[in-house]
Formats: sequence, structure tokens, C-alpha cells
Amino acid sequence: MSSRNVCVLGLGYVGLPLACAAAGAGHTVVGYDPDVARVRGLREGRSPVEDVEDRLLEKVLAGGRVRFTHDVADLQGCDTFVICVPTPLTEKTPDLTMVDAAVEVVATALRPGGMVVLESTTYPGTTEDRVAPKIAELTGLTAPDDYHLVFSPERIDPGNPIYQLSNTPRVVGGLGRRAGDAAEAFYASFIDHVHRVSGPREAEMAKLLENTYRHVNIALVNEMAIFCEELGINLWESIGAASTKPFGFAAFSPGPGVGGHCIPVDPSYLSWRVRRLGYPFRFVELAGEINDRMPSYVAARVADLLNDVQKSVNGARILVLGVAYKRDIGDMRESPAPVLIRKLEGRGAQVRWHDPHVSGPIADTAAVAVAGELTAEELAAADLVLVHTDHSAYDPQLVVRHARRVFDTRNMTAGLTAQHLFRL
Ligand SMILES: NC(=O)c1ccc[n+]([C@@H]2O[C@H](COP(=O)([O-])OP(=O)(O)OC[C@H]3O[C@@H](n4cnc5c(N)ncnc54)[C@H](O)[C@@H]3O)[C@@H](O)[C@H]2O)c1
Repeated sequence: MSSRNVCVLGLGYVGLPLACAAAGAGHTVVGYDPDVARVRGLREGRSPVEDVEDRLLEKVLAGGRVRFTHDVADLQGCDTFVICVPTPLTEKTPDLTMVDAAVEVVATALRPGGMVVLESTTYPGTTEDRVAPKIAELTGLTAPDDYHLVFSPERIDPGNPIYQLSNTPRVVGGLGRRAGDAAEAFYASFIDHVHRVSGPREAEMAKLLENTYRHVNIALVNEMAIFCEELGINLWESIGAASTKPFGFAAFSPGPGVGGHCIPVDPSYLSWRVRRLGYPFRFVELAGEINDRMPSYVAARVADLLNDVQKSVNGARILVLGVAYKRDIGDMRESPAPVLIRKLEGRGAQVRWHDPHVSGPIADTAAVAVAGELTAEELAAADLVLVHTDHSAYDPQLVVRHARRVFDTRNMTAGLTAQHLFRL
């Protein structure tokens, strides 16, 4: 393998593991991020990303192959630029300002023969129609003749103990065969399996297909959860039963809403692009409508469960277990918990919350954070305990034993039965 001088732009959930893996594979890496405090912390061995432990970061720093910077001048001499910056939605529209800013930084150091890879999730066409013209305008270099232009989606699943960067197959779409060859060789130096597609658009679409598939299927089971409650059916059991089919079925779970950087955001990138063709992407829009309504539905169920024991939400003490968007991580991005808490507070509830991975406060709420271990006293003091995130730190037996009423939106209490235990 030939060693490259790599610059990773954006040192978050996606960029930091990549910078560490590339350095570990023998490349020389400059990690660039305009966030001065983040860069200072990284230089001191403090990782802002849970999946990159401080110990690993210190080891990588000690290896001397990576350095972190917020200074654009430090990119000189790099031959491979990997862009891993956020691609949020602003007023439901793709916001590529950070990609544009990163491309401007790349343009200061890109030389003929270099490689530019976009890893940020975006709508199909971004690499060729937005990145390439900007690079041409700023540098006079055009792809595929002067440099290699590539899209390679990151598929990292934060908190997943089995699949990490190196053992998750990597999709690569280069503009032209030589760009694909160069990108394949680069990624194969630290990822077990690289899957080539014919161009950047196919790679961009692959990522959106994956996340739209999840979004739509989560909406399907969320809608089913709502009517199964009325039909008196335990949907969790039905999902478990359907999962025994060894072909043609993939299990998805209902929940209090969808969160994270990807599922609530990425499909909208695709539907935005489709709308520009003059028609809607109906699957995505319907799924968004259903998933976005889940916090309201959960709040209404909480009200019903309190009503059943002659209590009103107004004045009730509700303890929310877990506020992160998913199990065993502290990521609050797009988590439905703040929306749900606001809805409960809007009905007059006194909300307290506990999450071993998150420290407060939660914006625009008066909710009180419960610090330390979850105790029997805290559980017993609530009129209702609402399981929002099924962190493995929680002991379901303890929760069911001490809570007066439990509403479990994640089936954390699977296998337990009690008069005061209810599920989504
Ligand atoms: N987090 C995930 O699970 C995940 C998974 C797959 C794909 N993605 C995609 O990867 C991209 C990055 O997401 P993330 O979760 O790593 O974001 P993040 O917020 O964790 O990190 C992004 C970093 O980019 C930095 N940044 C902002 N503007 C910059 C610029 N102009 N130049 C260089 N750095 C800049 C920020 O300071 C931040 O440190 C997004 O498009 C996201 O959709 C994320």
C-alpha cells in the first residue's frame, strides 16, 4: 500500500474515527476542524466522540502520524482530502454551507493528482454538480483529468459494539475508473471490504436508500403500534414472531420517535431532490409525518394511563428514563425526548429525567435532571415512569418492582408482566 498524506475535514462522529484508522494504517494524517476548542481537546487526548476512547486517541497521538489543527495553512502537502462535515436541514432544506466551506479549505491545498472524497450524507448529484464546479472555479482543476473526485458514504452506527469502521463494508463511487481505483486502494488499507459502484451518484443514492429504508420501516411499525394498542395486540410479540422467518423479513421496532443525525434528516435530502423533479416522494413524506407524530402519541398515552388511576397529567410527577436518541449512547441530536418532555410539561406535568450518558439541561424545559444511579426511591416517587431510551444500564426488574406505573416505549421490560406495566 502506498502511504498518503491525508487531511480529514470535520472531526466528529465520522471524521475522528476515520482520522485514527487512517493513521493506524500508516498514512500521515492532518485532522482539520475550525472548532478551536475541539482541536485543543483532541491535542490533549480528549475525545469528543464516545466511540473513540481517550486511550485510543492517546495511542494514535503517540504514534506521531496524526496531528490536529484549525489552521488551514497546515493542509499544505496533503494529497487526499476527506470531507466529513455536517449536512443539516435548515427549514426542511438541505444546508450544504459547511460542505461549501470545507471545499474552499480543500482548494487552498489541492494539487494535480490529488484526491477529494466527500463522506457527508447528501442528495444525489452533490459531488459532481456542487463540489466539482466549486473546485474548478477556485483552483482551475477539473475531475477526472486533474484530480480524483469520489463520494464514499460513511455508515458508522454510533455505539454499535460489533460493526465499526473497519468491518463495515465501504461503498466507493469515483468519477472515472482511476478515481475509483485510488479510493479503493485508500479505503482498503483500513477497511476489510470495499464495494465499488460506477460513480458518485450511485454511492450517494446507496446511502439515502439505506436510511430511507429504515425511516419508512420504522414508520410502518409506529403506525402499527398505534392501532395494535386499540386492537389489544402486543405488537412486540408479533414482531418477534415475524422475525423467526429466515427470509424476506427484517425487524424494526416502534418507539417514541426517530432521532440521531441520519434517520430524521437524510430522507428529506432525497425528497427535496425528488420534489425538484416536480413531484413528491410520498413514502418519505408519509413516514416523516407518522414518525414526527410519535411524541404527541406517547404524551397522549401517558395522559390516558394516569387517567385510568384518577390522576391528571397536570401536577403529575413523571420520570423519563433515557433521553438520548438511542440505547447506550449520549447523542441527543434530533432525540424525540425534548419534544416529548415539552408536551408533557405543556399539560402541566412535573418532569424529571435520568440518563447515565447525558448531562443536562434540556433546552426549553423545566425538567429536572436526576444525577447518579437510578434509585428505588426515585422510581417510587413518580406517578409514572416513562421509558424513553432502553439503556443497558437500566435494570428492568428494578424499574417494574419500584415504579407505581410504567409506560415502556422500547420494550425494555420484555418478558415481564405486571398490572402497572404498559407498552407502546
Ligand atoms: N453521526 C453519524 O452516525 C453519521 C453516520 C453516517 C454519516 N453521517 C454523516 O456524516 C457527516 C458528519 O456527521 P458527524 O456526525 O460526524 O458530525 P459531527 O457534528 O459529529 O462533526 C462534524 C465536525 O465538522 C466540523 N466542521 C464544521 N464545519 C467545518 C468545516 N467547514 N471544515 C471542517 N470541519 C468542519 C464541526 O466543527 C464538527 O467537529 C454528516 O453529513 C452526517 O450526516 C453521520
